[in-house]
Amino acid sequence: MRRLVIATNNEGKVKEIKRLLAGYDYEVLSLKDLDINIDVEETGSSFEENSLLKARTIQKLTGGMVVADDSGLEVDFLNGAPGIYSSRFLGTSSEKKQYEGILALLDGIPDEYRNARFRCAASLVTDTDEMIFTGTLEGKIALKPKGDNGFGYDPVFFIPEFRKTMAQLDTETKNQISHRGKAFELLAAKLKNWSRP
Ligand code: IMP
Repeated sequence: MRRLVIATNNEGKVKEIKRLLAGYDYEVLSLKDLDINIDVEETGSSFEENSLLKARTIQKLTGGMVVADDSGLEVDFLNGAPGIYSSRFLGTSSEKKQYEGILALLDGIPDEYRNARFRCAASLVTDTDEMIFTGTLEGKIALKPKGDNGFGYDPVFFIPEFRKTMAQLDTETKNQISHRGKAFELLAAKLKNWSRP
């Protein structure tokens, strides 16, 4: 079995990759499984650069195959902010303060100017290769928060096709349509190809 290290402490991400690779010849491990406790500084200027940085750093430690992802929310009216600073937006790590901040910044702004998207870059680094897979989900900033599922900006990210916010979707539906789900799906397709005899 080939070992695939997911450079994250987020069990949700590990579970999602495990689900996508179920039945294939991969042992999926998290940093916690390997007792690795490091915080890679995200000094890149894009989701792609930051995910590659993380994957390379962990790959140097573990060897073999490593996956790392970076993601965030881009709001058109805010010129793409919070973008790569999504987890640190407004100088707080409180998700509630962050999404309330977005609502306040867009207060009174009509629907047609409320376009936003989630973006994800997932990098796969091996001893010999580097690859980046990306996924995007388009939506709008809602007028008020709705729903209790998910995390981060989910309560204020409205998906017109579903007429729901991301926080009103169940995990399975979210994984199918999300920026991360799409990037991971492409990455998994590559890994499935490699595992064929
Ligand atoms: P990370 O790259 O998964 O660490 O995500 C960075 C930040 O982007 C998170 O802290 C959230 O604020 C935001 N974010 C990324 N993906 C999502 C999502 O699916 N829902 C809500 N917020 C997200």
